[in-house]
Amino acid sequence: MRIFNLSMECYPVAKVGGLADVVGALPKYLNKIEGIEASVVMPWYNKPFVHDHQFEIVFDGWIHQHHQTFQVQVMKERSKSLGFDLYLVKIPGLLDRDNPYGYWDESQQFLAFQHGVLHWLTAMQIRPDILHCHDYHTGLVPFMVEHCPEFSFLKGVKTIGTIHNGEYQGQMRWDMAKYFPWFDGGKWGLLDWNGYINPLATMIKCCHAFNAVSGGYMDELFQSFRGLESLVQQEYAKAYGIINGIDTEVWDSETDDFLDFNYGKEDASTGKWKNKKQLCEEYNLNPDLPLFSFIGRFAGEKGADFLPEIVSKSIQQTQGSLNIIVLGSGDKNIENELSELSYLYSNFALDVGYKEFLSHKIYASSDFLLMPSRVEPCGLNQMYAMRYGTIPIVRYTGGLRDTVQDISTGGSGINFGEASATAAVEAMHRGLQIYHVEGLMPKLVQSNMSFDFSWEKSAQLYLDLYRK
Ligand code: ADP
Ligand code: GLC
Repeated sequence: MRIFNLSMECYPVAKVGGLADVVGALPKYLNKIEGIEASVVMPWYNKPFVHDHQFEIVFDGWIHQHHQTFQVQVMKERSKSLGFDLYLVKIPGLLDRDNPYGYWDESQQFLAFQHGVLHWLTAMQIRPDILHCHDYHTGLVPFMVEHCPEFSFLKGVKTIGTIHNGEYQGQMRWDMAKYFPWFDGGKWGLLDWNGYINPLATMIKCCHAFNAVSGGYMDELFQSFRGLESLVQQEYAKAYGIINGIDTEVWDSETDDFLDFNYGKEDASTGKWKNKKQLCEEYNLNPDLPLFSFIGRFAGEKGADFLPEIVSKSIQQTQGSLNIIVLGSGDKNIENELSELSYLYSNFALDVGYKEFLSHKIYASSDFLLMPSRVEPCGLNQMYAMRYGTIPIVRYTGGLRDTVQDISTGGSGINFGEASATAAVEAMHRGLQIYHVEGLMPKLVQSNMSFDFSWEKSAQLYLDLYRK
């Protein structure tokens, strides 16, 4: 079975968030199953990975968008170093940029990617068994395959849509239709949602099956989906929930090159202590205090706007008997507020930016990882934290609900219900109580490290869905 994953991100080529981790791992694990050939197709970016690896050009052609003509080149990585075939689509002027997102013409950019991929497959007569589309950026593919005559060779190919984040739907005005490959006008209703073209809605309408990245999040989408609730209710027969795994080869505290001190389950407490001591020294924090951390995008979904209040309240209420370290970037107001607090409180360290190596060090060094998310389709941080023996403190929502069980009910994490700074700080107080119970922390560290979040199980669930 031949599966093409279409995505804007893939670790380690280009990563903004968890989408990259998933797309960089799922095909690798699928390929370990006999008879499966899974690959990734993504845009070409001006990134170190692209320059450090060798590629061969497997296609060179042209697409037309409105009155413009663009060259399309598809390059295949020669050594299959990621455990799957990696194809990069380069379209000078649109898909030859530094980063996946944040450009004024991104709707046109995503359209060009989808058009370019289908044009290549059609021209080269490559007919995969499954086109697996990730998020709205590739959500028009199921429509294009069926209703654009240019791609009639692909008609009938099965399409799967994975919703990593339903907050973003790619809505655009109808005048953008001029940039589409020519399509059957009678099918316009499949593109429309409330007077706009909505690629995520189109994906749900046109694909053969779609899934959210956790069962908990899928359940929530039926009630709250930024206006698409009635659509998922209508299409419920095609809806699935499949929890993400984590790449346990990349995220392994015994072999992780980013760590100053590697450790396994047996020596976890001392290993974590050594890492923590080193990290605390780097950030001028007292290593004898419990360390709470946050890693992520400074966005409302992540509850990052609660962080300033969480930092000041928790430090004040405990008279400075804990440390907090935050790594992230995004909303400038949040960055500024946190930056001011980092000057005010010696117990609080902030690192603004995207730093893969530092994230690994923080997961390994922390006692607790905080995720006050308003919305969390799956969340990978809590699983990385647990794998590194860190106790997750999470709001009870989406994938966090499915992966973190509270200590009071036999689990080894901490849950809280309300999306607020107050509730998060209360949960941190619970963390502190636990921290001070003699002999409890090492047990929780061990227990968290024993959870199996590996991709094997989830890859099998995707395979079952492909087979269906
Ligand atoms: P999302 O994709 O919504 O941002 P996930 O929990 O699925 O959330 O995945 C986030 C991924 O991005 C994790 O691998 C996390 O470690 C990483 N990450 C987030 N922010 C940063 C940062 N500032 N520096 C390094 N890694 C980060
Ligand atoms: C999205 C979600 C996150 C999920 C990730 C990978 O970015 O916000 O919760 O873990 O996709 O599926």
